[in-house]
Amino acid sequence: MKALSYAKALVFLLCLGPLARLIALGLMEELGANPIEVVTRSTGTWAMVFLWIALAVTPLRHWTGWHVLLDVRRMIGLFSAFYALLHLTTYLWLDQFFDWVAIGHDILKRPFITLGMGAIVLMLPLAITSTDRMVRALGARRWVALHKLTYAAAVLAACHYLWLVKRDLSQPLIYAVVLLLLLLARLPLYLKRRARRSPARRAGAAAGSTVRPATRPVA
Ligand code: HEM
Repeated sequence: MKALSYAKALVFLLCLGPLARLIALGLMEELGANPIEVVTRSTGTWAMVFLWIALAVTPLRHWTGWHVLLDVRRMIGLFSAFYALLHLTTYLWLDQFFDWVAIGHDILKRPFITLGMGAIVLMLPLAITSTDRMVRALGARRWVALHKLTYAAAVLAACHYLWLVKRDLSQPLIYAVVLLLLLLARLPLYLKRRARRSPARRAGAAAGSTVRPATRPVA
């Protein structure tokens, strides 16, 4: 139990690392000629990296049997949303100076901004419903269904990155391929779960009852 608390504290500190680095570079005036671009790119990159890591937890847990990974998944997902919000704030504040007309124009005219907005809009309900209280309020089944939005948010984020890069697509393509592999890695688990559920559902229907909902959200 103590080891788990230490592990969680370590993951927490590691997740704060990119922000600490940006603050340190800012204080030392080492953010380069275009600090806003550096902050936008760094926060966007880390939002994406943490989202990808959160998506890797389920397949990793099944392959390794390390169920303890579930205990840090929520924290990593929340850090993804945190960096995405910092990324959005940098854009709204430092890049656009809260010029809502220009922002509205950007959302409508620049597809990569539209895609990024879409990703954030999907990530927010995930962050808001991540507390134990919200899990209980929604019920495990509805919570798991809602959190399937993670896949859509990740796809939009990957498209956002692919769309904004004009020349060298190698970096965004690496993220897209890793995402594809992460989604494919879930396919056998999904098919197994579906096969397991179908006879239970048939038996439940025959007996006139519903399938008992899961007590712990693990999707
Ligand atoms: C309202 C939502 C968003 C807005 C307005 C937005 C805006 C931007 C802007 C202006 C850039 C810099 C483009 C450039 O340098 O030419 C950028 C880059 C990026 N954004 Fe976003 N973004 C949003 C959401 C997201 C989300 C949700 C993610 C990831 C989960 C993300 C990941 C990235 C990445 C990876 C980059 C590129 C970093 C690099 O060049 O190394 N963005 N975004």
